[in-house]
Amino acid sequence: MHKNHFLRSLKKNEQSLIETKIVGTIPEWVNGTLFRNGPGRYSYGDKTYNHLFDGHALVHKFRIMNGKIFYSNKFLETQSYKKSLSESRLYPVFGTVDKLSTLLERLELVVRWPKTLDNVNINLVPYGTEKIFALTETNVMYELNPSNLNLIKRVEIDKCLDQATTTMAHPHYLEDGSWITLGMNFKNLLPHYDFIKYNYNEKEAICEKAELIARIPSSHYFGLSYFHSFGLTENFIIFLEQSIKFDITSLLNGIVFNEAFSEAFHTLENFPTRIHVIGRKNGAIVQKKFFCEPLVVFHHINSYEVFELDGTLKGLVTDVCAYDPKHFEIKNFTYENMNSETLLGTDAIKSTARRIFIPMNEAQDEIECVAKKLNQEVIFDLPTINYARFNGKEYSYVYGANYFKLPFSIIKMNVQNPKEVFERKYDYNKKSCLPSEPIFVESLNPVREDDGVLLVMVLCDEVDFLSILDAKDLKEIARGELPKDVKSAFTFHGFFAPKTKFELLNKI
Ligand SMILES: [Fe+2]
Repeated sequence: MHKNHFLRSLKKNEQSLIETKIVGTIPEWVNGTLFRNGPGRYSYGDKTYNHLFDGHALVHKFRIMNGKIFYSNKFLETQSYKKSLSESRLYPVFGTVDKLSTLLERLELVVRWPKTLDNVNINLVPYGTEKIFALTETNVMYELNPSNLNLIKRVEIDKCLDQATTTMAHPHYLEDGSWITLGMNFKNLLPHYDFIKYNYNEKEAICEKAELIARIPSSHYFGLSYFHSFGLTENFIIFLEQSIKFDITSLLNGIVFNEAFSEAFHTLENFPTRIHVIGRKNGAIVQKKFFCEPLVVFHHINSYEVFELDGTLKGLVTDVCAYDPKHFEIKNFTYENMNSETLLGTDAIKSTARRIFIPMNEAQDEIECVAKKLNQEVIFDLPTINYARFNGKEYSYVYGANYFKLPFSIIKMNVQNPKEVFERKYDYNKKSCLPSEPIFVESLNPVREDDGVLLVMVLCDEVDFLSILDAKDLKEIARGELPKDVKSAFTFHGFFAPKTKFELLNKI
């Protein structure tokens, strides 16, 4: 069944470049490498990780050039992966209990990060134009060799910075190669959110020149709102304290009684979303209290500034994919649930695009904003945009993946006119396939925002392939099919490195 594709568990790397079978014609200007990251192995010996977020990182690479596509993949040799492999033991990741752990081992987390909390399986992001990092949401990130995907360097952010103690999966990558990112800070009694800039400098390690932009105290007692992304405009950072609370009391309880980390994440149905606005350049925190209805948000789509006719700032728009907290528990993404069609593939849980307008020229200190559904019939998550040209700017098009309604599909919506929607369904031979987050690649001389293609990695029962869609109407213009005996796995996120900009990331 299709749902198994989410939790596909592989054992074998595909290190040599495998040429795919091309159907259709790939535009010659699509020249670069698609890097993707996700969970690729769940089973060790007779034990299996229980949660979608727990599979060990498998990085995939599609090198596209001269109308051809070459594929390779690699399990990242993290401490967590290597120890699970050698000991057939499920070292803790997120949602699975390590039944072999002792209280003494678990207590390590009270004083320091265990070395094995390093399964960097969520995203890959370039730093500058020569480096690439694999990310998760603990204290660790890894630099990869872009050619063979081996780990080059382990960066422990809590040792590098006197600020945040965690990394995040969705830093904003800036034009000059720098990042703006966000971390949890547990170093003070009251937990904080730290906004940090990694100023790009080719001679420095990634966090040595880190700069604290702003620090915001948590609104919760003994915990923080879980965060996974944030909005960025030309002048502001927009951060949502949302309905999922990471509860420190529950974490400590879990350490004593051996529960999975996921048990420390609670959905608070009635917690109004607190909207924080921070000056991007001076770190000034806007002191007004903006809030909106309770939301569960993983992914910001895009944010931008809106001006009055006289040029003064009227407000900020932040678009997000959001879930209704009444139907969302992060711990429910388990192996059992995802194979029994009680979670994904039903209406019980669904993500829609919401637009939040934050007025910046109103006098009140407390302002309720509305999280307006752009089109409640259109259900998707893993949103992407034409990031290189439109991040932080007024834009029209969002692309995303529908995992909530069969057959699974790729969605395009015009956020300025949300009735304008395209959908590309993936149901070949009457079987549903699993498409990935779509990645936009701009054409050479674009006129429109959507002049380009989308790259979609598709998992099917028989053959996996890279699907290349025209970004205007989502028609498939080409695909590169893997040989039947070569399998890939589900991926959360990734990026495309055009050869023109990322020369070193395109070395074979
Ligand atoms: Fe994500």
